[in-house]
Amino acid sequence: MRDANSFYITTPIYYVNDVPHIGHAYTTVAADVLARYWRLRGRDVFFLTGLDEHGQKVQQAAAKSGIDPQAHCDKLAPQFQDLWKRLNISNDAFIRTTDAPHKSVVQRYLQELYDKQLIYQDSYTGWYCTFDERFWTEKDVADGLCPDCKRPVEKLSEHNYFFKMGQYQDRLIDHIKQHPTFIRPESRRNEVLGFLQTQKLGDLSISRPKSRLSWGIELPFDRDYVTYVWFDALVNYVSALEYLPKNPALDQFWPASVHLVGKDILTTHAVYWSTMLMALNLPLPETIFAHGWWTVDGEKMSKSRGNVVDPNKMVDAFGADAFRYFLLREVPFGQDGDFSQSAMVASINSDLANGVGNLLSRTLTMIERFAGGAIPTAGSPAIPEIETRIAAAAATLPATVEHGFGALAFRDNLQAIWELVGLCDEYIDKAAPWQLAKNPEHLPRLNTVLNTTTKALRLLSVLLYPYMPHTAQQLVKQLGLSLDLSRPLPPSAYDWETPLPGVRICKGPGLFPRIETKPQGAKPVSDTPAPPQPTPAAPATTSIPPSPTPTASSPTPQAPAPAQITIDEFLKIQLKTAKVLSAERVPKSDKLLKLQVSLGTEQRQIVAGIGKKYEPETLVGKTIVIVANLKPAKLMGIESQGMVLAAGDTEVRGLATILEDVEPGTKVK
Ligand code: MSP
Repeated sequence: MRDANSFYITTPIYYVNDVPHIGHAYTTVAADVLARYWRLRGRDVFFLTGLDEHGQKVQQAAAKSGIDPQAHCDKLAPQFQDLWKRLNISNDAFIRTTDAPHKSVVQRYLQELYDKQLIYQDSYTGWYCTFDERFWTEKDVADGLCPDCKRPVEKLSEHNYFFKMGQYQDRLIDHIKQHPTFIRPESRRNEVLGFLQTQKLGDLSISRPKSRLSWGIELPFDRDYVTYVWFDALVNYVSALEYLPKNPALDQFWPASVHLVGKDILTTHAVYWSTMLMALNLPLPETIFAHGWWTVDGEKMSKSRGNVVDPNKMVDAFGADAFRYFLLREVPFGQDGDFSQSAMVASINSDLANGVGNLLSRTLTMIERFAGGAIPTAGSPAIPEIETRIAAAAATLPATVEHGFGALAFRDNLQAIWELVGLCDEYIDKAAPWQLAKNPEHLPRLNTVLNTTTKALRLLSVLLYPYMPHTAQQLVKQLGLSLDLSRPLPPSAYDWETPLPGVRICKGPGLFPRIETKPQGAKPVSDTPAPPQPTPAAPATTSIPPSPTPTASSPTPQAPAPAQITIDEFLKIQLKTAKVLSAERVPKSDKLLKLQVSLGTEQRQIVAGIGKKYEPETLVGKTIVIVANLKPAKLMGIESQGMVLAAGDTEVRGLATILEDVEPGTKVK
């Protein structure tokens, strides 16, 4: 049984029916961030990813290319492995379900369940969807179409082997109830519980007759059948521990700490896998976390639409760290999000180039210019009020981030980290070291500014490492520090109170060159566009990089309010259509209404100050416009996950609505 210091994280194993896309990269990057963080904190981490190589999808893809399925898998596997290298993924092992040891573990488990009479043979007639590789019942199928993928289904009758999944229904309900963090986020937990409490759980067909599908693991007790691909695939999480770690380690790492999955494969994990484990007398994973899906430029991503985002192209154009950052900064983990190249460019420019990149560059330039290139010891306070705020933020940040990683709140962590970046920008702007440098009497204050910002950058290097390993290593190198981020790091190495060594800095190229965009916006990502050109890195002159244009993450309060915004800044705001599903008044408020709205792929709750103008029931069914990427906030204790657009200044005069019948969740530009 895994001890508290061991951490086992998995991604789904990806089908090798096609090349990797942004969805694969998303989960794998998220898993990598957790793995890197916990290694840094001294935990014994095992991070597993890999490929799901059996089943109909793979067999069909191989047939299409006219090659044998194994040759097809061998051809595609390096595409995933190479991408993980390019994205700096630090997986400890890579499993392929065609590995011989994996196949024998699957067969051993099947035999065990068969011997325990938990697998039986029966005949089954139903509607079969070839694409989804599953049967549907009569009531599921409307107009002869698969309820999931809408492709035609066919009536099939066959003998198969069934796993007695249904008998675990009550035990599974109890387990979910007793372990609040077993399925996350909570909304998904409620979905699974709702389903289990209202529908009878049937048994699971775990075989496919070879006559229909031959590409799979043969059943040990009947050679005419192969194993259903999901039974085979789910076993990877334990079979890997038998043969892939340096020391086989089922005892050390099972049960898994976190299975990361996309929302579409939550049921197979929460229900199939959990009941399989119960039948095998193995403990259940600690957490199954289902993340949301990416749309692209407001549309579902699909090959037929030609808008599939190729992670390799993102790395080519923007670098691995920027792509990793954007994936986890753009949407709260667990919710759906929209990917657009313009949003990515805007985020790189404001948070990375103007944010942390500029902070490093300003600090190093000032150390070179005013301190002879070595980090000075702090002297007397320069602006005590801001220094106190920085010290307080820096002192609490490590615990905030640790808590955030426990909750898989990748985005909240980045927001918290960027508050420190913003504070440092404010500090430099207000302290104006270039003024202090003019008068030798101010030297002690000047040194405090330089020392404080460098200390903040030291902390940033550690906290950013899981997200942006290369950037963090650059920070360490350019600051002349000797932190080894690839090994467990004692907190004393970056604690705010730990003095900085008076080492020489080693200024290098800018971390994130600003990306120039054409005013009419970037082209869609799927067009194989010429990548936006990074502007050349700031020359290493003695000029001090200016404070960046004010943004949410780097306020410069003394600057006049900008009359105009750039297209980049505008593109950061994500406007979408939403259909009002229900509306009610917020108790004790004559102004606030609580709306439940649909964005097509997700539902949101929005609290809007439109109650004086509208009766709630008049809004139901209307298609309105919302700001979809606003950080959730609480109004009178109720969470609002967005903002509606309305005309009027102090008083609402009209709500922005869409006249036409536009699908909820459509982008508004
Ligand atoms: N082979 C199974 C998983 C078996 S795990 C024991 C599988 N493979 S998959 O390649 O089709 O999908 C892998 C993952 O990609 C899933 O978690 C899925 O949610 C994710 N995504 C596919 N499209 C996606 C988006 N558009 N956005 C985010 N993730 C998406 O399912």
